[in-house]
Amino acid sequence: MDKKELIRKAFEARDFAYAPYSKFRVGAALLGKNQEIYTGCNIENAAYGDTLCAERTAFVKAVSVGVKEFEAIAIVGGPSEGIHNFAYPCGMCRQVMAEFCDSKTFLIIIAQSEDVYEEYTLGQLLPKGFEPKQLEF
Ligand code: THU
Repeated sequence: MDKKELIRKAFEARDFAYAPYSKFRVGAALLGKNQEIYTGCNIENAAYGDTLCAERTAFVKAVSVGVKEFEAIAIVGGPSEGIHNFAYPCGMCRQVMAEFCDSKTFLIIIAQSEDVYEEYTLGQLLPKGFEPKQLEF
């Protein structure tokens, strides 16, 4: 896995962020097990609650073309002027990851630049999550 490329793609996706209300722009790049990259940005709405996060945009794009197995996601986010912090994924996005990704192996890369980043497994960011297997009874 080329982590720098994934981060670069997340930065490219961030350029398309539609965030006129929060002015907090987020980009994500999701790596499928097929080695394809699915990008996403946050898409806000005047009805604020209808906002879509960058990560879920990426998942929706992948799943809607039949891709449901993933290795990693890179996330970059910050105020319009730049990125000075790590943008950790919100709870709803972590839950969407738990639907499709293995908690022990799926890697979440949160970056400030291609060289400055943190990485976690999904299980580290969503311990004891509610997973599809809990509906198998
Ligand atoms: N946002 C994301 O895109 N991903 C997250 O995981 C957290 C928040 C977006 C939603 C909204 O457009 C802006 O960041 C401020 O909350």
